[in-house]
Amino acid sequence: MIKILIDLADFLRSCAPLLTSLLILAVLCILLSKSIKKHATLYYLLLAIPFALVALPFIGRMFGIETAGFVRIPILGEIIRDYIHMATFGHPLLIIIMYMGAFNPKIPGVKKLLAIRKELSIISGFPVLTHSLIRVGNLPNSFKFFSGNAEYMANTKAASELGAGISSFSFILGIIMLLVFIPLWVTSFDSVRKRMDHIKWKKLQKWAYVLYATLFIHAAGIQTGGLLNPRGGHAPSPVTVEATVTENTRPNEQRENARPNEQSKQGERIKPDKNTQSVQTARPATNERMPSKGFSDIKVTAPQKGYIHIISLILIYGSYLYLRLRKTKKDAKKKAASL
Ligand code: HEM
Repeated sequence: MIKILIDLADFLRSCAPLLTSLLILAVLCILLSKSIKKHATLYYLLLAIPFALVALPFIGRMFGIETAGFVRIPILGEIIRDYIHMATFGHPLLIIIMYMGAFNPKIPGVKKLLAIRKELSIISGFPVLTHSLIRVGNLPNSFKFFSGNAEYMANTKAASELGAGISSFSFILGIIMLLVFIPLWVTSFDSVRKRMDHIKWKKLQKWAYVLYATLFIHAAGIQTGGLLNPRGGHAPSPVTVEATVTENTRPNEQRENARPNEQSKQGERIKPDKNTQSVQTARPATNERMPSKGFSDIKVTAPQKGYIHIISLILIYGSYLYLRLRKTKKDAKKKAASL
């Protein structure tokens, strides 16, 4: 029974990582809300470690100092990768923060989350900054799509120009998101917030809606671009088998764009993810009976995962929009009634 549950959790995490992580993280945040409130600084310090381990080698490289790729360290490396890719930690965290404003604050779980909204906002900065630091390397190529389209298409041999355009646009949108995110993040810190005029602070917070809208476009655009360019137009490069196994779970456009950062620059080898091994595992060549079928035997292809991800995004952001508008209407009615 336990094996079936673990299998199911692994399967869900592999084919719907955003929804699964969102559920797990929301429950964890509710359970740990008191502890997060009480020991906020400790949480900040702990959760800033993966960011520091990415930022320090990044800064070192700018000065020509090569340091070890921390991504290879077991467990810690996985956490760093989660920070880089956003789908399993940063994105769900941003969604939780976003949803808090759409739910009735009297619901017990929501009340607990609202009590730590500031702390969660500060924590969300670490994966966002890690992600941006690594992904900034994708930008020169993305700009090239618009500034020298013919050269870009000739060099990348992307199968779909539309796909390459959507990906490039989504990557460039990342800069705008960073520009919106940083003031929101910095003003989450009490020391900054207390120095600000409350009305100004409230006005600034409205930019969070711009961030939510761009988050959806960025995430959905990158997935769509990856689906339109399933092989990115490139011949397979001589990457390690390890990296290939992991890379097969990500849209190809992303893989191509990820390579300079993840392999050439950092020299990091990506460890195979146990969720993805089933995609590559060959059947035994003997006449042995195959073991009974479980969730881990269900094959979900990379495009199918892409579609599941896009549907998850539409469901999450669509229901947020619906709930937020409903709450705004209710609040307006209450206000009108009290006048
Ligand atoms: C510096 C500019 C940025 C670039 C070039 C960029 C690029 C990327 C890429 C390549 C991905 C695909 C996932 C991966 O392999 O990492 C991605 C996903 C994502 N990025 Fe960015 N990004 C940037 C900035 C940001 C910022 C500032 C935020 C948040 C405020 C953000 C939020 C996300 C989210 C939520 C996802 C989707 C994760 C999912 O699939 O659920 N990105 N981005």
